[in-house]
Amino acid sequence: METIQEKPETLTFAKRLKFSTRTNHDSVDQLVMQSAPFLNNINYAKFLRLQHIFHLSVAPFYQNDVLQEWFPGLADLPRLSAVESDLKDLGLEPNVSSYQLATVPNLFQAIGWLYCAEGSNIGAAFLYKETQKLNFDAEHGAKHLAAHPEGRAPHWRKFVAQLDALNLTEEQESEAVKGATEAFAFYKKTLISLED
Ligand code: HEM
Repeated sequence: METIQEKPETLTFAKRLKFSTRTNHDSVDQLVMQSAPFLNNINYAKFLRLQHIFHLSVAPFYQNDVLQEWFPGLADLPRLSAVESDLKDLGLEPNVSSYQLATVPNLFQAIGWLYCAEGSNIGAAFLYKETQKLNFDAEHGAKHLAAHPEGRAPHWRKFVAQLDALNLTEEQESEAVKGATEAFAFYKKTLISLED
């Protein structure tokens, strides 16, 4: 994994998001792997429920007019319907109670949540490969982990360029970092609650 050497204040916005949330990311990564999501269909179903709650929580941002202006093409990116089709492939209903969903107070924090959701598709290359052990793929059961049609890396570079073009104030950037941190914390909390 790439290390970031510079001081946080000299980083681009996207790098600042990465630098500020690297330990949060790594603890989520470890926790997901500890839950052995690809060991069997029961564990994979639990992982899908977790992904569903996360993607349902971020889904409104992809429909938000202001965010769509800041991130052209945003409306085409949500993976909620793909997760729901994966759940159906496993014979599961996409039921979620509203209390399980996140609440995000402002659009700058929502940028951090979007960063978290879109970035998760980079690491998903590895997760997607693992689903093949369970005989799932982009057509069946693992649609939401499949690469963007443009490819994972080009898609991510485009999103990073959009983040860096926002020209936020320092305060707005800090809100976005807060949102990203909370998105990781929410993911972790949800994962733990589903393990109980
Ligand atoms: C077992 C689970 C996971 C693994 C193995 C994993 C792995 C990775 C890897 C290898 C990268 C690329 C890092 C780099 O190029 O420096 C990455 C990036 C990222 N992942 Fe994960 N990831 C996992 C889960 C998650 C989850 C659940 C989320 C969000 C909820 C997430 C959010 C991100 C973000 C935002 C980035 C972009 C980092 C950046 O370049 O700014 N990851 N992940």
